[in-house]
Amino acid sequence: MRRPLVMANWKMHGSRASAATLVAGLLEQIDDPRADIALCPSFVHLSQVLDACAGSALAVGAQDCSHMHQGAYTGEVAPDMLADLGCQWVLLGHSERRQYHDESDGLVAAKLAAAVEAGLKPVLCIGETREEREDGEAFTVVARQLQGALAEQSALAGLVIAYEPVWAIGTGLTASPEQAQEMHGYIREQLAEVKGVDAEQVRLLYGGSVKAANAASLFAQPDIDGALVGGASLDSAEFANIIAAA
Ligand code: PGA
Repeated sequence: MRRPLVMANWKMHGSRASAATLVAGLLEQIDDPRADIALCPSFVHLSQVLDACAGSALAVGAQDCSHMHQGAYTGEVAPDMLADLGCQWVLLGHSERRQYHDESDGLVAAKLAAAVEAGLKPVLCIGETREEREDGEAFTVVARQLQGALAEQSALAGLVIAYEPVWAIGTGLTASPEQAQEMHGYIREQLAEVKGVDAEQVRLLYGGSVKAANAASLFAQPDIDGALVGGASLDSAEFANIIAAA
């Protein structure tokens, strides 16, 4: 039995004040959750959020990390720094990183290896664009992203995959539970082929316009083990309701 995991991706939102309010609101509403929960604020709010979540059911992660461990890489944040700070998780290969920062499958693979070496639990984000889906390429793209990130890894302990169809992110368009399940089932089949991975143990999150109103029907699917939530995670009541659905 895979324990559900619900993650918040705050993206480039918030201030010290709003982060404090959001975490306080969540701590008030979440009592003995049946899911693992992690919050991914921006780098500059990590310390504050880690302090606020200490001793609670809320874990903390970053939205990205460097593929290098240290050195002359101005502006980068090493996975080792995140682990040293107390972060448990890191999102890697989010479609916004692929789209706006030209992250390739190769770079995502290098980041994944560095994150695992540093002791972080990686969440590999994959998903096709609207055009790719319309061209009938969705499964090919997802298989390529998986293969590109995982094929050369020597350790993949605690790997989590987030399937986020790009056309569903921040658009209000969610994949139907059946569409999402179809892809999650396919991803699990693909994972069974990757050496060093126990496909049945890997948690597969769905992401893309998840909200309290659609969470339960997504979580009811056999291969959907939780969610990566963007916009709806910025409202503590909404996010708490998504957690309750898991
Ligand atoms: P969304 O974002 O929930 O706002 O669609 C999800 C994500 O990009 O992780």
